[in-house]
Amino acid sequence: MPESVRQLKGRRKIVALTAYDYPMAQILSEVGIDVILVGDSLGMVVLGYENTHFVTMNDMIRHTQAVMRGHTEGLVVADMPKGSFETKELAIKNVERMVEETGVRAIKIEGRPEICRALVEAGFAVMGHTGLKPQEAEKMGMRGKNEEEANNIFEEAKALEEAGCFSVVLECVPADLAKKITDTLAIPTIGIGAGSDCDGQVLVTHDLLGLFQDFCPKFAKRYVDLRSVMKEAILSFKDEVERGIFPSP
Ligand code: KIV
Repeated sequence: MPESVRQLKGRRKIVALTAYDYPMAQILSEVGIDVILVGDSLGMVVLGYENTHFVTMNDMIRHTQAVMRGHTEGLVVADMPKGSFETKELAIKNVERMVEETGVRAIKIEGRPEICRALVEAGFAVMGHTGLKPQEAEKMGMRGKNEEEANNIFEEAKALEEAGCFSVVLECVPADLAKKITDTLAIPTIGIGAGSDCDGQVLVTHDLLGLFQDFCPKFAKRYVDLRSVMKEAILSFKDEVERGIFPSP
């Protein structure tokens, strides 16, 4: 499965979205999304934290289990949360636990090529992640705007490929840097806020659906305002209960 995602490079664009629960996994499977990412963005859009830093292994396992129950198509990838891969030993222990308790076949790690290599050598399928790495960032926003930072991101992307990652997320990097990385690597790049030349695109589904209002990154496109649709339905229910229309005889 990770191999079939890898093989999409150069053939067609890869489509990836986040899911954190059973119904969303069903919907993404039904419409044929290639990669269903149980992102640690869970921390903000579902759990209400201000960033991803408080997400735990137990949170990720619980939500990955729900996604695995709902998905029928597409590759599910589970994010490893902050603090779960500080050393090679800890990373292997936690990824083993993630795989055993959820049945997921691929995980994602922010940065840390040497940890990714150890995981690949231990037999796990690893998606890399470079550019903005929210688990270590104090501030969100574009990375790689100056030459030194752009070089570091380019080198890290190459190191992630050399470590054996089957694909790599490029988050919030300038489009020309994302294109250079995409042209250089043999594995697919999946962009978020990284221009249109990546091999695939990922968004946080709650942003696309208009379900999360605390903030919406500039690069995200809101395809529907589902929050308003939901509010209208809930208000109708409230109104019908108050007026004695629901339930009907
Ligand atoms: O946690 C997440 O949703 C992610 C995506 C933004 C790539 O890592």
